[in-house]
Amino acid sequence: MTKGLFPLGGPVAKEDLVGREQFIVSLVNRLSEGQSVMLAGPRRIGKTSLAHEVLRRMKNKGAYTAAVDFFRFSGKRDFAASLIDACLENRTGINKTLNVLRDRAKAMAGGAQFAIKLKDLEISFGFPDKKSDDELLDYALKLPGILADRDEKVMVVMFDEFQEASRVTDPEIFKRMRAHFQTQKGVAYLFLGSKEGMMQTLFGGRKEAFYRFAIMLPIPIIAEDDWIPYITQKFASRNIQTDAEVVKEIIQFSGGHPQDTMFLCSEVYYTLLETGNNVLTRDYVRLGYNRAMLALAPIFDEMLDDLSTRPQVRRVLYQLAAGENVYQEGIHPNKIKRAVDHLISRAVIEKTARGSYVFVEPMFQQYILQQFQ
Ligand SMILES: Nc1ncnc2c1ncn2[C@@H]1O[C@H](COP(=O)(O)OP(=O)(O)O)[C@@H](O)[C@H]1O
Ligand SMILES: [Mg+2]
Repeated sequence: MTKGLFPLGGPVAKEDLVGREQFIVSLVNRLSEGQSVMLAGPRRIGKTSLAHEVLRRMKNKGAYTAAVDFFRFSGKRDFAASLIDACLENRTGINKTLNVLRDRAKAMAGGAQFAIKLKDLEISFGFPDKKSDDELLDYALKLPGILADRDEKVMVVMFDEFQEASRVTDPEIFKRMRAHFQTQKGVAYLFLGSKEGMMQTLFGGRKEAFYRFAIMLPIPIIAEDDWIPYITQKFASRNIQTDAEVVKEIIQFSGGHPQDTMFLCSEVYYTLLETGNNVLTRDYVRLGYNRAMLALAPIFDEMLDDLSTRPQVRRVLYQLAAGENVYQEGIHPNKIKRAVDHLISRAVIEKTARGSYVFVEPMFQQYILQQFQ
């Protein structure tokens, strides 16, 4: 869990989840009905935070839930065991049930009821050690369906960083998953992915295993009207006075981007603390902004270096940032289009409904402009 007045980095707690209420309700409704959902969006846009809250609500409604993150696995067996653990926790209340099962004495100490609790799931003491990687994987993929059936529950399984699944396990994983998942009645899946292009292909490509398995929903932006009361109340909790116009300026700088907004608020807050002031003014917003930019510079530099290995990208990036026309005489439009597509696939820019481009991270746009001045 994240710490600080404005939590940063990891999934945030319910009370720090700004501007997602409607979307969460809609996700809960869909999943409750058994509809699987895919959410794709760049990193730090708030997918994991959102999904955890959805799962908490499902759990409160009596559903079973399980969440696993593909960034955490070292291989097939690791993934399988984690999924099994996440599923079993719904019954046993024990976070690492499989570990307990490996050690008979420990399991007995946990009460004789323990083994009985798992008996109808074809699990016995020493369970994972007896199985090959593939057997364990098949069992893990079957388990949500078995649990939902046996216990007559709705079950929601969340896969985070799903685009990594094939790299972590094997290239056949998607086919294998689909074969299991499509027969499961009471289970809905929530897939999250931070490589949008890959996720679109996986769920939208006709030849892909997950074609049309889940509905793909766009992650809404967090509106200024949602940020303002949150930020105001946070500062107020530390006896810092704010006024709506100044708070708005923070959001204008960050563009409402989830993590950048939190970060900017955080830097403004520490600047206030250091000077012992308790009134938020425009000057403090500026100071906080400069500090945030300084801290983000190495990250932005790396992004720039990484993107600039492709022809035209650096120039196109600057022109987009400056709001200029990217197409130029003397350069073939296809080349420029490729650069633009590359920036879209790397989630640096997004195409708006009107056909123009916006930066996913407005502070990166500002950084580019500063660099090329
Ligand atoms: N709804 C939100 N409200 C406020 N801050 C958010 C929200 N979503 C994300 N953040 C900020 O972004 C950070 C990263 O969020 P996270 O859910 O881990 O994103 P992702 O999974 O898309 O990488 C959080 O630590 C928090 O600072
Ligand atoms: Mg995440």
